Amino acid sequence: MDYARSGDTCLDAVLQGGIPSGSAVVLEGAPGTGKTTLAFQFLHYGAVQENEPGIYVTFEELPDQLYQDMGAFGWDLRELEKRNLLRVMCMSPKLFIEQISKAGGLVEHVIQEMRCRRLVVDTISLLRFEAEELGAYRKLFYSLRNALRKFGITALLLQETDSSEADRIPIENYVSDGVIRLSLKCHMENYRKRTLEVLKMRGSPILEGEHHYKITDRGIHVVPSLSSVQDKLQDIGQPVKTGFPKLDRLLFGGIPTGSSFLVDTNSKANYKYFIASIITEHLKAGFRVIAFINSLSTLEDMVTKYRLFGVDLIREVREGRFYIIEHYGRSYPADLQPSIIDVSHTDPQSFQQILKDRLGPVISESTANGDHWFAYYDLNSVFSQQGIDFVRRFYSEEMSIARSVGLTVVALCNFAEIRSDLASYLERSSNGVIRTWVDGGYQYMQLVKSPYSVISEPLIAVNIPEMPYMKLV
Ligand SMILES: Nc1ncnc2c1ncn2[C@@H]1O[C@H](COP(=O)(O)OP(=O)(O)OP(=O)(O)O)[C@@H](O)[C@H]1O
Ligand SMILES: [Mg+2]
Repeated sequence: MDYARSGDTCLDAVLQGGIPSGSAVVLEGAPGTGKTTLAFQFLHYGAVQENEPGIYVTFEELPDQLYQDMGAFGWDLRELEKRNLLRVMCMSPKLFIEQISKAGGLVEHVIQEMRCRRLVVDTISLLRFEAEELGAYRKLFYSLRNALRKFGITALLLQETDSSEADRIPIENYVSDGVIRLSLKCHMENYRKRTLEVLKMRGSPILEGEHHYKITDRGIHVVPSLSSVQDKLQDIGQPVKTGFPKLDRLLFGGIPTGSSFLVDTNSKANYKYFIASIITEHLKAGFRVIAFINSLSTLEDMVTKYRLFGVDLIREVREGRFYIIEHYGRSYPADLQPSIIDVSHTDPQSFQQILKDRLGPVISESTANGDHWFAYYDLNSVFSQQGIDFVRRFYSEEMSIARSVGLTVVALCNFAEIRSDLASYLERSSNGVIRTWVDGGYQYMQLVKSPYSVISEPLIAVNIPEMPYMKLV
């Protein structure tokens, strides 16, 4: 099935893909719940990201205020109109009804002229006054529905909910293909919460339940509810904590077993404790670990760092639970040698062959016995030692091996140093992406992609004196 994506990845996750293309969906809510905002988010995203021109029909007098309000979300409607990707049509409900149901009418003309794919009516509540009685209104609504269907347009029909009519299901909800409800409810006495619920979506599965949403300065952002995504969690694998409660909550427990995460960083950002905490939690959960050691740190440094986390690294290495990938030909104590994988002075082919020969048999034997593995790749080292072109091939092969054996992967990579096509490839082939950067005196971290489409605001990473030595606020 084809979906029209909404402009919010989390709403698309709730809709399990987006709004089914060609359907007419009622978006209902009380005044101020964000109907107009979500409608323009949908049109703007379609126009800019999907090259799907859209029409916004309003029955209000053309308000300059509207352009200004939507501009505050970063959506330049006038510019889209200039590019023929958007048309704001301001007309009376009467004229709209006359024109939409008429072949060759004004609305049809504009739809064809701009190859319109998305349409919004703000609000259909006003159409009711055009019909003398309910039967006539029902007919009128059917003809609107049929006209949209004729053009295969995906439509959002905004509807005001009236609390005095809470018990009555409006006929629009029967006739339309779907219903999304925005509500503002009391929450724990003193608070109010905004919730979004999909009441109906023909021919498409949905994540049931009431989901929180926020109105941010980039538009509507839905936070899918925990209970509805937990079922899906089972498919991906049990989550393993990262050690950072805030991040673990966003990830519904932690990094799912068998998933791959990318940490986009740069040399100024201090991610050392971040990675050490993730690896420690995996060791505590019984995972066996493969980790790159970079040019700046020595085994002694690592031992000291992991001791802070209560891990005896030497013992882990000696007992074959912690493998180290060494790029720089440094020497290690003899009894650790079996767990050191020396890839210094290798060309790309032998690099991969060495990893395969050394780790392949161990991993397949132990996964057969029920062991789990965690790999930490420092792609920056691979870039510098094997070249950037190698990384794409290497990473996609590693990922397919990882998937086949259920290996969890966290890879470090400095996006600023690689081509944007490679960066977006790496991003696409990962289940999660965490960005870190330094600005002024602060270090930031942001979850920008995750298995359940939850993204976070930029979080500030502050150092703390106790484990895990860093806190996200
Ligand atoms: N950056 C922002 N952060 C938080 N809230 C915002 C922001 N910008 C606008 N809002 C809020 O969003 C709401 C506007 O929503 P919108 O106009 O889309 O609602 P609506 O359902 O179309 O309302 P109406 O029925 O009155 O047309 C207002 O309550 C406004 O206070
Ligand atoms: Mg509105």
